[in-house]
Amino acid sequence: MPSWRKPWHCMAKWLILGCLCTGFLLLFYSYASLQVFMAKSPAPARCSSPPTSPTNIPNDSCWPKLDIVFMKTHKTASSTLLNILFRLGQKHHLKFAFPSGYNDFNYPTFFRRSLVHNYQPGDCFNIICNHMRFFYSEVHSLVTPNATFITVLRDPAHLFESSFHYFGMVVPFTWKLTGHNKLAKFLQNPTQYYNPQGYNAQFLHNLLFFDLGYNNELDPRSPQVEEHILEVEQRFHLVMLQEYFDESLVLLKDLMCWELEDILYFKLNARRASAVPQLTGELYQRATEWNQLDALLYRHFNASFWRKVEAFGRERMAREVANLRWENKRMERICIDGEHAVEAKDIKQPSLQPWQAMGAKTILGYNLKKHISHQYEQLCRKMVTPDIQYMTELGVNLWITKLWGYIRKFLQI
Ligand SMILES: *[C@@H]1O[C@H](CO)[C@@H](O)[C@H](O)[C@H]1NC(C)=O
Ligand SMILES: *[C@@H]1O[C@H](CO)[C@@H](O)[C@H](O)[C@H]1NC(C)=O
Ligand SMILES: *[C@@H]1O[C@H](CO)[C@@H](O)[C@H](O)[C@H]1NC(C)=O
Repeated sequence: MPSWRKPWHCMAKWLILGCLCTGFLLLFYSYASLQVFMAKSPAPARCSSPPTSPTNIPNDSCWPKLDIVFMKTHKTASSTLLNILFRLGQKHHLKFAFPSGYNDFNYPTFFRRSLVHNYQPGDCFNIICNHMRFFYSEVHSLVTPNATFITVLRDPAHLFESSFHYFGMVVPFTWKLTGHNKLAKFLQNPTQYYNPQGYNAQFLHNLLFFDLGYNNELDPRSPQVEEHILEVEQRFHLVMLQEYFDESLVLLKDLMCWELEDILYFKLNARRASAVPQLTGELYQRATEWNQLDALLYRHFNASFWRKVEAFGRERMAREVANLRWENKRMERICIDGEHAVEAKDIKQPSLQPWQAMGAKTILGYNLKKHISHQYEQLCRKMVTPDIQYMTELGVNLWITKLWGYIRKFLQI
């Protein structure tokens, strides 16, 4: 948004937008509930018992685990992991628990099983991976008791920066921030601007804690903080770190007994480098202090992550990471036109346009090569398909999400 626009202009726009949205939503909501009501209920599906491993399988190899809950945190490279899970699900014909209408489970309200598309009591799913505010018992009731729970964390100061720039526009109390560097201004004195009751406030305060289902306004000295952190450790089999994404994927592959091909990836939903201001020095400190709950969480899991790497073997890790990077590069040469990511406006096929729900349009995507050998064609296409299009391909109806896209285009925001 050009900086010369007055705040009232911006507010008026949001007011109009709000009215429009509410109108549309009411209209479509009644339509959707009618549809749900009329839709034939599918035969209740249960999680099939895990495929019995053939007896002739050598005892030094393992059997892939295919029941997984990925608690998708915001702004943590989680779209890239989503792509990996979508591919896995297609490859093994797994059953996803998807939301209906949107690409998230009614975030920021807590997850409930009834939010799952076509949910019938007794249903069971192999994969749950869309944005949600975590609610363990509800999620757990939808998967086999042995399902693997994973999530991704990120250095809270950088996460805060990313969230501030991406979501700032939908957090009304940031509208009164003026000047060139709103982030710095906010961090000078957060309590002056921050309102815990404000709409979408969670995006600007301990977002990880919030997404994981806890109170993001807790006093950092409260004993509950440690309890929550230990609970996360109990419930999640692997807590990955965005900063060590490749190492995290290697641990994941090992834990789940997947193949290297399963974890190959191109970075999805990443911002162009020049659009990523580096948070350094004092601002970094301030952002960490402001997100102290997340900082405690991150410190805990940073430590446990490296213990896991140690147990896995440092040299083995280095070898496997090098291997993964080499294979990713090889896929880049096979699949990607120009072998690098490009700005959204330079992406030729609409089906490969990254989805940018809000914020400045700085997210990159890919063009596929014209001629890709038959062997790799499918994998290439899947690896560059942004999550919204991929979900559509997997049969999810995302009308609300798409409607928002049209409104955004129409209002040019
Ligand atoms: C596989 O099992 C056989 C017999 O049960 C055993 O002799 C062999 O050492 C095992 N191999 C590995 C790699 O565990
Ligand atoms: C869960 O895992 C345990 C031990 O790993 C195994 O004995 C049990 O059969 C598994 N249950 C299901 C439902 O897969
Ligand atoms: C995470 O742990 C590593 C290894 O102990 C350390 O070098 C790094 O500074 C830690 N990162 C943060 C943000 O605490």
